[in-house]
Amino acid sequence: MLRWVIPAAAMILAGAIGASADPYVWPLPAWMPRPPVPADNPMSAAKVDLGRHLFYDARLSRDGTVACASCHDQARAFTDGRARAIGIDSIAGLKNAPGLANAGYFPALTWANPHMSSLEFQALVPLFGENPEEMGSVGHEEEIFARLSVDTYYAAAFPAAFPDHPAPDLYTITRALAAFQRSLISVDSPYDRYKYWGEADAISDAAKRGEELFFDHRFECYHCHQGILFTDNLQTARSAEPEIGFHNTGLYDPYPAALPGLIEITGRPEDAGRFRTPSLRNVAVTAPYMHDGSIPDLRGVLAHYAGAGRAPGHPMKDGMIAGFTATDAEITDIIAFLESLTDQGFLTNPATSDPWPEGHAARSRRMMPPREAK
Ligand code: HEC
Ligand code: HEC
Repeated sequence: MLRWVIPAAAMILAGAIGASADPYVWPLPAWMPRPPVPADNPMSAAKVDLGRHLFYDARLSRDGTVACASCHDQARAFTDGRARAIGIDSIAGLKNAPGLANAGYFPALTWANPHMSSLEFQALVPLFGENPEEMGSVGHEEEIFARLSVDTYYAAAFPAAFPDHPAPDLYTITRALAAFQRSLISVDSPYDRYKYWGEADAISDAAKRGEELFFDHRFECYHCHQGILFTDNLQTARSAEPEIGFHNTGLYDPYPAALPGLIEITGRPEDAGRFRTPSLRNVAVTAPYMHDGSIPDLRGVLAHYAGAGRAPGHPMKDGMIAGFTATDAEITDIIAFLESLTDQGFLTNPATSDPWPEGHAARSRRMMPPREAK
């Protein structure tokens, strides 16, 4: 952990020069720029801590059973292990819950909506969305704000995070949740130690061979899963323009009417079956895969690409999904490479884990995805 000390010290100094009483220290190495932060929601340690408590608090849902963490579980890189999410009253959704690692860097959030560009705004969807209902809070706003007001932690935490606007309401809740999610940064996998810190033995020989295959023209993976987050969706505080990538990988022909892809928003025929390229960081712990969770494991994903897509004839399929022939050993190597992107420190980071004590009303009735037997 020594290598974090120097950048962290530099950040603390930078914060001090900014003269903020409560500087937020980005958990970032020098080679990674921070995510963009909206001018009307600056980061502070108090706000991130408040957002963390709200993220794990099931009292934000109508009946006190569903928190953000119910579908975004840290141990699974903030996914839920289900094909499709299950919300309040066991209502089944249509889509797979994406991980939240590095969510602050994605210029377009969710699977197929180019307009969902803000974490502050996105938080309203699970809270108040009715298609499907996730937390079921619509119409219960005042009751929920009142519930939070009487909590002793929140009585101090809202004023500390928002001195000019200290009440629990939509303004403060969505901003604190967004600030917490910007703090969910994962760039310390064995592959990072190998690639950016020069630790030659941080990954296995199989993973090194898999890296070469991943970046090889026979497989073409890197065209879409590119750059530091292994996706063509990226915006940092230094980006002039956001990168946004949606592709049709030939999963269905035609795509089901309920989940048609980007075309649902744009109406353009060429957007049929296009979904946002997911980041592959921590992908080994986020099964099942794809926007509808229809592929159970990484081997299945590789089989989908080997066959030029599960439904290879879709007219809008991306030209890069052309199929390939590979030996079993090569597929195993690619999977070893994908596994080297698992950041154990991120999955267990105490700074982003459940802050509520056992038995507390925030979590006593909270549903969580079942953990695999160890
Ligand atoms: C019932 C399960 C469920 C709950 C509860 C839930 N989410 Fe989600 N979340 C999802 C699903 C499913 C998606 C994908 C939605 C889509 O693509 O339209 C998603 C997407 C997201 C995204 C976009 C991530 C990305 O990479 O694009 C963010 C951010 C997010 N959720 C944050 C939250 C927050 C904050 C809360 C609590 C206020 C929350 N979620 C509660 C299931 C859930
Ligand atoms: C043309 C762009 C493109 C190429 C090339 C591509 N992918 Fe993908 N990948 C995507 C998109 C888009 C999705 C999501 C598709 C969906 O859900 O409908 C995806 C999904 C995945 C997933 C599932 C991730 C998750 O969280 O559900 C994995 C794993 C994956 N790709 C690995 C690979 C590998 C390995 C290769 C090379 C053999 C590859 N991809 C080539 C665009 C691409």
